[in-house]
Amino acid sequence: VQNVSNHGLGFDPDQPIRALVVGASGGIGRALTTQLAADQQIASVLAWSRRPRPSDDDAENAKITHASVDITDEASIIAGLAGVTHLDLVIVATGLLHDTSRQIAPEKTWRSLDADQMARSFAVNTIGPALLAKHTLPLFPRDRRAIYAALSARVGSIGDNRLGGWHSYRAAKAALNQIIRTLAIELARTHKQTVCVGLHPGTVATGLSKPFQSGVTAEKLFTPEQSATYLLGVIGALTPAHSGNIFAWDGQVIAP
Ligand SMILES: NC(=O)c1ccc[n+]([C@@H]2O[C@H](COP(=O)([O-])OP(=O)(O)OC[C@H]3O[C@@H](n4cnc5c(N)ncnc54)[C@H](OP(=O)(O)O)[C@@H]3O)[C@@H](O)[C@H]2O)c1
Repeated sequence: VQNVSNHGLGFDPDQPIRALVVGASGGIGRALTTQLAADQQIASVLAWSRRPRPSDDDAENAKITHASVDITDEASIIAGLAGVTHLDLVIVATGLLHDTSRQIAPEKTWRSLDADQMARSFAVNTIGPALLAKHTLPLFPRDRRAIYAALSARVGSIGDNRLGGWHSYRAAKAALNQIIRTLAIELARTHKQTVCVGLHPGTVATGLSKPFQSGVTAEKLFTPEQSATYLLGVIGALTPAHSGNIFAWDGQVIAP
């Protein structure tokens, strides 16, 4: 798609948009939340993560409401949606590549494969976004534009895998991409104006990428704000015909 930054998110001008950003305490999720709240057409932004967002972020815009939700716990997702009757835009910006508190680091070789670490990666990177879809899609309008976008990663592409390594993260993102395609096919039958996609944000300076930034040149390492602006530009250009695909920050389709 042609990135249409500054031309809005593609909704009808008279449609007040109710947005949900999951992973709002993270690098990219935090920037997405701030930029959405600054958009005049956005009526409200639900901002979810396990950790609270810093209080100055909450003060920055009365449209933002934070809730503490753990996407690996279905009851927590259901509780977060209590009282929410309508959503037009869901962006899932959660993800797990490493977690020192659980001794999780991306594998360099099959010798490092560990069942618990793999299960944790799938719980956060694949099953969480699937459960979020299960509980948020019923709140989407059937007769107007709606977007379900989950942050994936280029390394989840099987066709693009030339380096190897990062077995769990790659496999969990590939599985997420399959979930997205499957949701899109089902949604096309009942929600003809809903777009369901995966998004690759580029390499972005966040906690997730911090241990792996050394080989990345400065111009290829985006700030979270830069990446959020690119991603919202891509979202703005999406039509239902694009549903089921994975798009990079520059609007290019990433092969499965
Ligand atoms: N940064 C990059 O270079 C890069 C490249 C390709 C793809 N991506 C993808 O982009 C997305 C965002 O990444 P990021 O770089 O912004 O990462 P990040 O800064 O580590 O943020 C991750 C977010 O996920 C939330 N999260 C993790 N586990 C959760 C759970 N169980 N329940 C609820 N929230 C949870 C974290 O919040 P709490 O800890 O507060 O819950 C945090 O808000 C991820 O899907 C990542 O795979 C990033």
